[in-house]
Amino acid sequence: MATSTPIAALAALAIAAAPAVHGAEPQAAKSTAKRAAKQIERGRYLLTVGGCNDCHSDGFAPSEGKVPEKDWLLGSPLGFRGPWGTTYATNLRLSLSRMTEEEWVKYAKALKTRPPMPWFNLNQWHDSDLRSFYRYVRQLGPTGEPAPQALPPGQEPKPPYLQWPAPPK
Ligand code: HEC
Repeated sequence: MATSTPIAALAALAIAAAPAVHGAEPQAAKSTAKRAAKQIERGRYLLTVGGCNDCHSDGFAPSEGKVPEKDWLLGSPLGFRGPWGTTYATNLRLSLSRMTEEEWVKYAKALKTRPPMPWFNLNQWHDSDLRSFYRYVRQLGPTGEPAPQALPPGQEPKPPYLQWPAPPK
């Protein structure tokens, strides 16, 4: 009996230790998943307060933001017509699916487009914010159609379009 006690004790110890050893991995995976979820949530917040939906999600402003989230950033057939021609807010779900996160950060910081895209604001986002935005958009998934091609000045767009006044001198 005396000799079996240490073995029983060891066995008991091993059993007690087992869940702790196996528990370490799910714990680490859990906190990684938590961080990832937080980053995605931040991307969603930034795109909301950054106003990207207002143009890049069809009907967003007129519906008071009531476009289902699954349809966010799919681009818009509403033309913006001005001295630059006619531009269309692009399908960012498709655009970002063609870039790596690194490429997106570089691209967003150097981006310059025609109006009314506020590229000069996007250029100022911090890397970490651009990364969060990217993660959010990528998990929405690449779907939908590309927005219509921009038209050069002087070419008559099909409705619907908004006529923009000339920029101030
Ligand atoms: C006032 C309307 C408007 C708002 C607000 C807006 N965009 Fe745009 N965006 C456009 C238009 C129009 C174009 C196309 C410009 C062109 O064709 O030259 C565009 C183009 C882009 C492009 C380049 C084309 C592409 O798909 O790679 C990116 C990237 C982009 N927008 C990201 C954003 C992000 C991110 C936000 C929010 C922070 C945002 N936009 C807010 C109208 C807007």
